[in-house]
Amino acid sequence: MESAALLHDVDKLASVKREVDGLPHGEGSAAWLTRRGCAELAPVVAGHPVSRLADAAWFERWLDTASSEALVLAYADKRAGQRLESMAARFGSWERRYPPEARAERARGGWSSHTLEAVWRRAETLELLVCELAGVTPDEVRRLAWTGRALRSARAG
Ligand SMILES: [Fe+2]
Repeated sequence: MESAALLHDVDKLASVKREVDGLPHGEGSAAWLTRRGCAELAPVVAGHPVSRLADAAWFERWLDTASSEALVLAYADKRAGQRLESMAARFGSWERRYPPEARAERARGGWSSHTLEAVWRRAETLELLVCELAGVTPDEVRRLAWTGRALRSARAG
């Protein structure tokens, strides 16, 4: 789980991006991990991007088939910026960084307000499911001690 968490965005690195050219974010990380002999991590990272929540059919299939690790990683992605935050704060940050005009340029067509609402509802479904699995409320979610050490180590490396 820790390895998947640390490597889920690896396809954002320029060198990796070149290697997995053309694959959507998340699937690129999954392909890169598979090529490096870590195929077991691929399904854990592949579905984490928030953009996946815009696809209703994909989301329903994924919810039915995703491992607990994949669900936790996708949920953590919706709670973790530079620090742990609420989903509302995280989505607000995405809104500020990727306003509708920027999204329209990045992804063909962008997201309508209807899609944004649907994405939010699916994120809430994910939150409910993961918190139920973990036996906590969203307010009780905390970073574990290993994350501080891992982040310091990654920054130093
Ligand atoms: Fe990501």
